[in-house]
Amino acid sequence: MFHLTHEHEMIRQTARDFAKKEILPIAAEFDESGEFPHATIKKMGELGFMGIEVPEVYGGAGMDTLSYVLALEEISKVDASHSVIMSVNNSLYAYGFLRFGTEEQKKKYLAPVASGKAIGAYSLTEPMSGSDAGTMRSQATRDGDFYVLNGRKSWVTSGPVADYVVVFMLTDTTKKQKGISAFIVEAKTPGFIRGKKEPKLGIRASATSELIFEDCRVPVENRLGEEGDGFKIAMTVLDAGRIGIASQALGIAEAAYQAALSYAREREAFGHKIGDFQGISFKLADMKTRIEASRLLTYDAALLKERSKETGERFSINAAMAKLFASETAMFVTHAAVQIHGGMGYSKELPVERYFRDAKITEIYEGTSEIQRLVISRAELSNQ
Ligand code: CAA
Repeated sequence: MFHLTHEHEMIRQTARDFAKKEILPIAAEFDESGEFPHATIKKMGELGFMGIEVPEVYGGAGMDTLSYVLALEEISKVDASHSVIMSVNNSLYAYGFLRFGTEEQKKKYLAPVASGKAIGAYSLTEPMSGSDAGTMRSQATRDGDFYVLNGRKSWVTSGPVADYVVVFMLTDTTKKQKGISAFIVEAKTPGFIRGKKEPKLGIRASATSELIFEDCRVPVENRLGEEGDGFKIAMTVLDAGRIGIASQALGIAEAAYQAALSYAREREAFGHKIGDFQGISFKLADMKTRIEASRLLTYDAALLKERSKETGERFSINAAMAKLFASETAMFVTHAAVQIHGGMGYSKELPVERYFRDAKITEIYEGTSEIQRLVISRAELSNQ
């Protein structure tokens, strides 16, 4: 159904080889320590993985959305921590610049991240505003040629290490969603403070933290889009981000499935390979079927996003369906993979327990499964 070009096969193979050679040997160790994998992330940047869809003139690889999805899937098969860092740089950070950035903003703030020399982050969530993103409290007040940013943001992926952050704040407290604007903040700006780092269940080598803004002065030219456009920018960017998370979930699920399949072929009980028992083999059939369905939804959303570069059409529902189905598949598959492995699935000697812990976040970040259902059903019900 999906025609992969020579270029697609090449990027998939490059990502697969890199993940196997460079990430696989360190994944468990970095998961255990929770340390940020600076060295491998830098190498991924050198390979063009941090700005796959960004035109070469802005430091990226100039490839299409399917290339991005294929590469991210391969990295995710080996380690979801590396893949979320890659996903945030490519979609939550870079896509916003591609859609809404000025020429100067792209040169100054997109190029270093897309070329892997710097790390970007996207900061929407607040302690009291998660799924209901329109209820944020952080404020940006205009003061001459500057905005003065104040507030507390939470759950920022790459927050502890980011060089640049796109942050969303209220510029008009009377307007809710239509009073939100987006700003590019350099981490070295006075008043930009990195807060508490989150100790997490999974994706432990990716760094997540609060960000605190205390009279943080940002020049007017660092506003992304117009005043009041922030909410739509945040949502548009999340549509792209959700395709990235769907690819991540797909990669995690595939890794867990392959591990379970191998184990079912080798492990014996009651005088048989355990794969001979329908209690195991039917699980494998369900795992495989859901993975292939996730792949179709994810690649389809990627193709639609690619087409949107010409047509400008929205791909919100397709991104939401891909993320919803792939993330719930990742949870289903990793849960079954642990079960098939029995005691060994619970042991840190194998990566299966890590896949299980990593899968859970895909049902939560960039919009919970409940939010994806809301996005899909609202759009369906409003269509006459
Ligand atoms: N694209 C463009 N515009 C959009 C849009 C989209 N995908 N979704 C909504 N809009 C527009 C609407 O058209 C509407 O515009 P008009 O008023 O002009 O008609 C406006 O935005 C408001 O839309 P809604 O009325 O639908 O807004 P809402 O308050 O009901 O919220 C929501 C909608 C879907 C629930 C949204 O709040 C949402 O997606 N919540 C989840 C937030 C989320 O995913 N957070 C994750 C943060 S990132 C992260 O996880 C951390 C990380 O670093 C990885």
